[in-house]
Amino acid sequence: MDLSRRIEAAMSAAIERAQDGGPDRLAHALNYAVLPGGARIRPTICLSVARACGDDRPALADAAATALELIHCASLVHDDLPAFDNADFRRGKPTVHLAFSEPLAVLTGDSLIIAAFDEIARAGADDAPRALALVRLLSRHTGMPGGICAGQGWESEAQVDLRAYHRSKTAALFIAATQMGAVAAGQEAEAWEELGARIGEAFQVADDLRDALYDAETLGKPVGQDAALARPSAVEELGVQGAIKRLRDILSGAIASIPECPGEAQLAAMVQRYAERMTPVAPVKV
Ligand code: IPE
Ligand code: IPE
Ligand code: MG
Ligand code: MG
Repeated sequence: MDLSRRIEAAMSAAIERAQDGGPDRLAHALNYAVLPGGARIRPTICLSVARACGDDRPALADAAATALELIHCASLVHDDLPAFDNADFRRGKPTVHLAFSEPLAVLTGDSLIIAAFDEIARAGADDAPRALALVRLLSRHTGMPGGICAGQGWESEAQVDLRAYHRSKTAALFIAATQMGAVAAGQEAEAWEELGARIGEAFQVADDLRDALYDAETLGKPVGQDAALARPSAVEELGVQGAIKRLRDILSGAIASIPECPGEAQLAAMVQRYAERMTPVAPVKV
């Protein structure tokens, strides 16, 4: 099965399990927040690394990939709330709090986070030590002090270190993606940190560039948010050309950082494809 069909099948099954017999509107909101998805980049990276490492426990790799994407979707639902970025649309449709209500958006994010950990626990029946390692990785890269919660927390500080902010807000989940893919396939996590960190940092710089350069219709979400909300961004700190240079510098080391593994060449080709796709080529405004 190709990676994208594998991811969509696992995501739909996870949402059905989380909905089963629960309150109707919240059940609909879970579906709305997750399906159809965006680029699914985190689960794609996770499964690509698992494959490169032999993928000897595919159910565990699927659960890891699903858990990452559920956490990502939850973070977006919470990020769009009026208490954070107050965004009106996401993935080309009204945000969850506008489509359903603020209480349901809070509960949707909460439910997706919990469903993420449940997916790993369920799949851990035939390899509990690996499942436990996956839970630890996911919690480390999601919560405090260095995960998504920390990243969002930096926005409430008077002085922000851009690298620390980006590393925890965005890169943490990419590090989780490479490390969880490796661990699901029985490899050590540590060697996979640099690849995840580089892809994640590059991804956030590319997101900052798109926010500054593209239009809302192209992106399916509001643009100009970093400047409007006075958020620290690579464009604000380095300018457009400086940010593009930083993006290229980070990505140039990503391929070199891939650890030795049976599927190294295929993985390098995938990273190269993402690197090309990430670099903005045709900005609509300057
Ligand atoms: C957007 O992530 C939020 C950031 C961390 C910058 P994505 O661009 O991966 O969002 P989707 O899942 O494709 O919509
Ligand atoms: C959202 O970050 C990423 C999270 C970790 C929640 P942003 O606020 O920068 O991303 P967009 O522009 O809303 O997707
Ligand atoms: Mg935000
Ligand atoms: Mg936002």
